[in-house]
This record gives sequence, C-alpha cells and structure tokens, in this order.
Amino acid sequence: GLRAASAQDMQGRRVLVTLGPTREQWDGVRYWTNPSSGTMGAAVAVALWLRGAEVQAVCGPGTPWLPMGIARHDVTGARQMFDVANALWDAMDAGVFTAAVADFSPVPLGPEKFKKAGAQDGFSVAFTPNPDILATLGNRKRDGQTVVGFAAETSGLAESMARKLVAKNADMIVGNLVGGTDAGFGSATNRVTVLAKGGEPEEWPVLPKPDVAWRIVDWLARR
Ligand code: CTP
Ligand code: CA
Repeated sequence: GLRAASAQDMQGRRVLVTLGPTREQWDGVRYWTNPSSGTMGAAVAVALWLRGAEVQAVCGPGTPWLPMGIARHDVTGARQMFDVANALWDAMDAGVFTAAVADFSPVPLGPEKFKKAGAQDGFSVAFTPNPDILATLGNRKRDGQTVVGFAAETSGLAESMARKLVAKNADMIVGNLVGGTDAGFGSATNRVTVLAKGGEPEEWPVLPKPDVAWRIVDWLARR
C-alpha cells in the first residue's frame, strides 16, 4: 500500500492529532466557528501515518479525507473534541494539537430558530469558556509523552509562542502569523517559526503544508 514507500521511523508510536475548527451551536440554525480548513492537521496526520505511526485523528467539521489506516473521530463542538481527545490521551506517545478550537461558546438558545422580531434594536450573546485541550493534556502528560502545539497570531508571535510553550507544558510550539497570503487559514503553504523547549526560535521557509508536516514529524522521530 501507500505506506510501503516511506521510511517507517514512527513505527509503533501512537500519536493523537486534533485538527480543523470547532462549531459551537447557538440556535437551531446558527453556530460560531472559524475558517480553519484542517489542512495542516491532515498533512501532519498523513505524514505520521506514512512513517508508520498509529494515528488517532480528532477532526472538527470540514476536515478533509484521510487515509483509511488513520483512526478518524469526527466531532463538532469544542467540548466534544475535548472529551474524545481526553479519553484517547493516556494511551498516546505524542500529541500534535493543530485544531482551531473555539475558546468560547455562545450560551445556546436551544433547538428553535431565533426570530428577529423582538430584537429590532440588536441584542447581545453571552459566551462561556471552553476547556483548553492542549493545556489540559499537556499539563497532565506523563514521562515519555511529547506534546506539539500550534499558535496562530496576528501580532506578537515570538512572545506568545514562548508563553504558550510554558503555559501548555508543550515540548514544541509551531507558530505562524495569520493575515498574510502564504500562511494561515486555508492556505496551501505555511511560513512557520518553531520553538522547542530549551531551544531558540527557528524560522522555516515558506513551504507547502505537507512539507511543514514532514519536518514536524522529523523532529518527533528524532526524540
Ligand atoms: N488549543 C486547544 N484547546 C483550546 C484552545 C487552544 O487545544 N480550547 C490549542 C490549539 O490547538 C493550539 C494551541 O492550543 O495548538 C494554541 O491555540 P491558540 O488559539 O493560538 O492559543 P490560546 O491559548 O487559545 O490563546 P489565544 O487564542 O488567546 O491566543
Ligand atoms: Ca484560541
């Protein structure tokens, strides 16, 4: 099959990948989300799988197809993504957290459609916080578990990468600035800065997302 042509340097390693956006339902017909396409995470999942890893992919809505050798768990909301990832985590050797998880969910109105009559002057929506999947699983990682997080920022990339590395107890943070044309939501390429624990930030060139993924797996395979 597909896998036979690749080096099997991740053979036997069990890796959790979160990917895609989450969708937080508000009323019967509306939800809160973000433009994540799941492309970066899918590239990571495929690279891991090609190199022999046992991959558990926890996928938000719209995540692209994955080879059938990857265990795929489709989820909708952040809370559900958290529950599935949390249940898988203890059996994993590593986690790569690429998902664009909604930090907050609107307080849901229920299954009915919200009607504009009665809200002519506008209205407010209240939001409640969601669990931080990476921070929760990173902060309870056991010896031998490796954690890779992502950080997408509009400014202050270096500082937030350093902060997130510590706050989430990650071993590496892959960061990118969103808003440009060669990186971020939905693009085919990515320009990332990588910060490993105890190391200095390293800038990688603009690369197709599959190549960024391959290099991330190179780093995991060396550990
Ligand atoms: N993450 C997560 N669960 C969340 C929020 C974020 O697992 N509820 C993960 C993302 O998958 C990513 C990393 O945390 O790997 C950083 O996400 P990001 O949104 O950049 O950081 P936040 O900590 O949420 O902070 P902010 O959005 O305020 O920058
Ligand atoms: Ca966030």
